[in-house]
Amino acid sequence: MKLNVFLSPVIVDELYFTGKTTVVIDVLRATSTIITAITNGAKEIVPVASVEFAVKVSGGMFGGQTLLGGERNTKKIEGFALGNSPFEYSKEVVDGKSIVFYTTNGTKAIAKAKYSENLFICSFSNITAVTNHLISLNTDLEIICSGRNNFLALEDTVCAGMLVSKLQKNLGDIIINDSAKAALILYEKYNSDILSVLQSSDHGEILIKNGFEKDIEYCSKTDVSDTVPFYSNGVLKKLKNS
Ligand code: MLT
Repeated sequence: MKLNVFLSPVIVDELYFTGKTTVVIDVLRATSTIITAITNGAKEIVPVASVEFAVKVSGGMFGGQTLLGGERNTKKIEGFALGNSPFEYSKEVVDGKSIVFYTTNGTKAIAKAKYSENLFICSFSNITAVTNHLISLNTDLEIICSGRNNFLALEDTVCAGMLVSKLQKNLGDIIINDSAKAALILYEKYNSDILSVLQSSDHGEILIKNGFEKDIEYCSKTDVSDTVPFYSNGVLKKLKNS
């Protein structure tokens, strides 16, 4: 098995992912929020790469059951029902709903990987469930760290390193690229205190300044969900049996 990590989606063209198995990670907060929403019963999430497109597709396409969610500069976007805090995506709010979702980095990374044969969403919260599914597939793998504004994000890199470590433990010899090796080294350095990694990261500091300290704590928790969101026909849904 060959495994490549991309420390930012900007370094690769979308056609690269055609026919591949890909995992997208945006710990703070897009993929953590997507996993929460689907775990809490959201029917589907429609990830979009621009606010304008979010407004366009939400206009009646999904039988009035649509919510607009996401953020710009960590804040809820004017006219949107929900921001990007996982706490906003409770069962009462999202059960049975289609959510059109835009975020600065995470949904753009998902859009970049849209031609993948298999596309999954990962965060610390569902990492063992994702690992188990990848083991059952046993295909070559691309892991995209969404990063932040085209830069590496430490929390995404450490999460990618955790995924690589878990896959290596289960599958033995995997051929990994240099970015995967770097992610693994960072994971081994920081795995005893994931919360501190998130709190002291560039994005974590911005979220704390904006009052989202609780979100960071929430996003640092490992294996609180068995949900593996997967992408098909433009929407993210819960993988059956996950
Ligand atoms: C993103 O996708 O850029 C993030 O999820 C932003 C955020 O923290 O809300």
